[in-house]
Amino acid sequence: MAERVEIFEVGPRDGLQNEARMIPTAEKIALVDCLSEAGFRRIECASFVSPKWVPQMADSGDVLAGIRRAPGVRYAALTPNMRGLEGALAAKADEVAIFGSASEGFSKANINASIAESLERFAPVAEAAAAAGVPVRGYISCVVECPYDGATAPGDVARVAAALRDMGCYEISLGDTIGRGAPERIDAMLEAVMQEVPVAALAGHYHDTGGRALENIEVSLARGLRVFDAAVGGLGGCPYAPGAAGNVATEAVHDRLVALGYETGLDRDILSRAAGMARDMRKDSQ
Ligand code: HMG
Ligand code: MG
Repeated sequence: MAERVEIFEVGPRDGLQNEARMIPTAEKIALVDCLSEAGFRRIECASFVSPKWVPQMADSGDVLAGIRRAPGVRYAALTPNMRGLEGALAAKADEVAIFGSASEGFSKANINASIAESLERFAPVAEAAAAAGVPVRGYISCVVECPYDGATAPGDVARVAAALRDMGCYEISLGDTIGRGAPERIDAMLEAVMQEVPVAALAGHYHDTGGRALENIEVSLARGLRVFDAAVGGLGGCPYAPGAAGNVATEAVHDRLVALGYETGLDRDILSRAAGMARDMRKDSQ
């Protein structure tokens, strides 16, 4: 049997958060429901951040309340602080994510905190989530390049990864936030991070701005990673990372994985339907 590689679908969060048009809650719910049908085990569809910072995510509680929860699927939410965690727990998110950066410039721009301050802020969030029995994922942004500080040293990523590991994150997702990564740099970064965190607890989160996300996934597969974040229809970007184009498209990742002999557990026809919905949402914004 082919080896399984999991795609963690982040389109309804990382994809939609950047859209200028306020997308009706019902459209978001319909997209998540279609993604549930496609066979994902984890779908990030909410973000309990300040609505002043990311207005598009202000209806996250309503999205989580409105979706059809498919058995065995975990619906995930970003939680930058205790207030965010309270919102996510009230909305019954199945898992939450704390999100830091390997570079100071992006940390300040995205969450208004230095790296050290952000880690201090995350610790009680991770503790309270664990006490509530909710798994916590950790993100690290700018793992190869920062829009404010330039190149990121692999050791800086490894240090933040170790801190998130120590807080109990069950998985750490490594973000090439502005899609500038080339395979050699991704490889060097992974080598450093893997000194701290076992590969089974790592995921690749590669934006496709430079058109190299699929190559970056291949180099990560060679290192042993078996989880990749992607956004259906290639939706996305980050409002606090100028130049961050879409996440790598889920359907492109699926097709590449299948061509390489892996299986994803996803239904390609339903995935295409979801990609069409995502593209329509974006088209309506332009
Ligand atoms: P701050 O301004 O330093 O915080 O923001 P504050 O505590 O002073 O609060 C400011 C206002 O926000 C207050 O309201 C708070 O009540 C409110 P006011 O008194 O002015 O009316 N507030 C909240 N409201 C709702 N939910 C909350 C919350 N917290 C405070 N949880 C903060 C700090 C972290 C809140 C802010 O910077 C923020 O929300 N940042 C989020 C930015 C964001 O969501 N970025 C995109 C996600 S990250 C990403 O896309 C990267 C990733 O995909 C990986 C990759 O690609 O690299 C994950
Ligand atoms: Mg991202």
